[in-house]
Amino acid sequence: MSHVHVSSHPLVKHKLTKLRDKETNPKKFRELIREIAILLAYEATLDLALEPAAVTTPMGEAAGFHLQEKIGLVPILRSGLGMVEGIWEMMPSAEVWHIGLYRDEDTLQPVEYYNKLPIIPTVRVCLVLDPMLATGGSAVATVDILKHWGAHRIKFVGILAAPEGVEALTAAHPDIPIHLATVDERLNEVGYIVPGLGDAGDRQFGTG
Ligand code: URA
Repeated sequence: MSHVHVSSHPLVKHKLTKLRDKETNPKKFRELIREIAILLAYEATLDLALEPAAVTTPMGEAAGFHLQEKIGLVPILRSGLGMVEGIWEMMPSAEVWHIGLYRDEDTLQPVEYYNKLPIIPTVRVCLVLDPMLATGGSAVATVDILKHWGAHRIKFVGILAAPEGVEALTAAHPDIPIHLATVDERLNEVGYIVPGLGDAGDRQFGTG
């Protein structure tokens, strides 16, 4: 599973522990999601293409680089929203394209309700953002949408995964790198990650 990257960064592990804590309030929870997302995106973007770009400093000319590829941040609504802002600060020229999927509670299958992607792709690299890779249904559906759209390179950036979700995304899209803070034990009978952190949407938005 060399395309699955589980962060070994001590800051990620420390923040993840606070994120899981049931006593963590929504404000702190949002801050942690944001901070972990930045750290994971740093790891996920290590191979972005660069082009040489000279720069004039107050002292003279220096060799430098610009990012070559247009980046799209693709949060899966609604829990992916909390991962956008921090990453966007690191790459302010990125475009943000929201994908709305909800999970049918009976079938556990994703149902699309929001997608405003234009016909012609406007970005080359897409980072799909969803803190929870549970059944994998939403991630698989989003990557389907982005491939169909014409995105050249797609990466999934999540925080917690169940082994079932990693397997489902890998089986459907073996070419997609998966960046995570951790892979937990299992999914429970209603599709929640165990031990997980509960409902990532409710905990961010205070709706639990
Ligand atoms: N979505 C969540 O918010 N939590 C889970 O455990 C699984 C899916």
